[in-house]
Formats: sequence, C-alpha cells, structure tokens
Amino acid sequence: MLQNQKIVIIGGSSGIGLETAKQAIAHGAEVIIASRSEDKLQKAKEQLGAKAAAYTLDTTDEQQVQAFFEKIGKFDHLVVSAAETSGGSFLHTDTAQARQLFENKFWGQYYAAKYGAPNIAANGSITLFSGVVAYKSMVGSSVLGAVNAAVSSLGQTLALELAPIRVNIVSPGIIDTPSRSKMAEDARNDFYAAVAGKLLVKRVGKAEDVAQSVLYLLQNGFVTGTVLHTEGGHILT
Ligand SMILES: NC(=O)c1ccc[n+]([C@@H]2O[C@H](COP(=O)([O-])OP(=O)(O)OC[C@H]3O[C@@H](n4cnc5c(N)ncnc54)[C@H](OP(=O)(O)O)[C@@H]3O)[C@@H](O)[C@H]2O)c1
Repeated sequence: MLQNQKIVIIGGSSGIGLETAKQAIAHGAEVIIASRSEDKLQKAKEQLGAKAAAYTLDTTDEQQVQAFFEKIGKFDHLVVSAAETSGGSFLHTDTAQARQLFENKFWGQYYAAKYGAPNIAANGSITLFSGVVAYKSMVGSSVLGAVNAAVSSLGQTLALELAPIRVNIVSPGIIDTPSRSKMAEDARNDFYAAVAGKLLVKRVGKAEDVAQSVLYLLQNGFVTGTVLHTEGGHILT
C-alpha cells in the first residue's frame, strides 16, 4: 500500500518517528528523516538502510523549514513527530520555558505543515503529534497539555483547509522511548510501573504501538480530521 510512496518523517531519528520509518520501509515506502542531531540521524540511517535519506533540520527555525521543503521537492506523506518536551509546576515554571514548549512542539509542527503542504500529493496526508495530557489533565503538564490541545485543533482545521490532503493527529499516551533518557533509570522504571498499574492494558506503550497508528493513518484514504488516541485507555482511568 505504501509501495514507492515518499514519506517525510520529521523527528524520524528517534523513538516513534524512527519506528514509523522502519514500518513504512517494511511496507515498501522510501523515507526522508529529519532532525537536529547529525549523530542521531547517522545512527538511525544505519538502522534504516538504503531506502532512507537523512537531513539535519531544526523545526523551530522557520527559514530552515522552508528551505528544507524547497530542497526535497514533491512527496506523498508528512509525519511530524519532532518534539522536545518538559513538565513542571505551573507556578514555578519560568515563562521562557513555557514559551519554549510552544516554540518546539506547536510552532515546529505549524511550520512543517505550512511549508510541507504545497509539496504533498493530492491523495497524500499529514500526521501531527498531540499527546494524552491534552485530554487527561495531569499535575505538572499545564503547558504541555495546552500545546498538545493546540496541535489537535490546528490539525483538525487543516483537514478542512488543505483537503483533499488528509490531516490527522496521533495522541500517544505514556510511551517508553528515548524521550525520557535523561531521567535516572530507577526513577523511569518506577514511573512506567506506576503508570502501567493504572492503565487498562496494564503496560506502558512501545514506539511500535504508536507507529502502527501512524501507518494506519497513512494508508486509510477515508480517514481525515481524526485524533487517534493510542494510550492504553489512559483517558478512561
Ligand atoms: N514518549 C511519550 O511518552 C509521548 C507521550 C505523548 C506524546 N508524545 C509525542 O510523540 C512524539 C514523538 O515522541 P518520542 O517519544 O518518539 O520522542 P523522542 O524519542 O525524543 O524523539 C523526538 C524526535 O524529535 C526530534 N526533535 C526534537 N526537537 C526537534 C526540533 N526542534 N527540530 C527537529 N527535530 C526535533 C529529535 O531528534 P533531535 O534531537 O536530533 O532533534 C527526535 O528525533 C512527540 O511529539 C511527543 O511529544 C510522546
């Protein structure tokens, strides 16, 4: 179904984006991955092989995003999993840090959609990334929740404005990816165990779980404007 389709995955050097690249290649696609770190991109490319090309890109830099899409030309699908997120108490978080979250995760996806859309095939798609804290309020996630809600809203309106290009949003729950590599291992394991105990499926997510959601959105030509929650029943707990 993705045979010879060209898929751009910004954030494809790690976690959910990298797993999406692997699954897309297994379905016959060619992928272009992009992110900031040369080192991460190089390691990802070694795993992905000849069907992948890699470009350095910082989505917070509007001109870089515009130049990136001018360079790569026409393609079929855009996936934007790029984000660096953080949490913290509302009263004790610096305003600058709060704004940085919007810069990285909201404006990064906004620029990617804006400059990527003109190069996407009419039967192609855009997949943006929200997250469970937009739908299940959690202490310490006031700003990230707002960023994620903003991304979901942007994506649904873009489904109207960019049609017939389909635009969907994936909203992951707590997923075990390198995004938490800076946490101490014990603390991370305790966090995952505590979340798993509360979830309906009794485990945290894997990058593969969310990549499967992205692959579904890429392939199902009748789905647009959808927020696909992939979170083990977290919202219901
Ligand atoms: N993991 C979870 O529990 C979870 C929960 C809810 C939502 N999500 C969302 O799912 C998406 C993927 O997360 P993940 O867990 O796969 O994270 P990850 O493993 O940390 O991967 C994030 C990717 O984004 C890239 N990136 C970060 N900032 C960037 C920027 N400004 N420009 C270009 N690339 C940038 C990173 O590479 P470089 O460092 O090389 O730039 C990396 O490739 C994110 O939107 C995240 O917020 C994740």
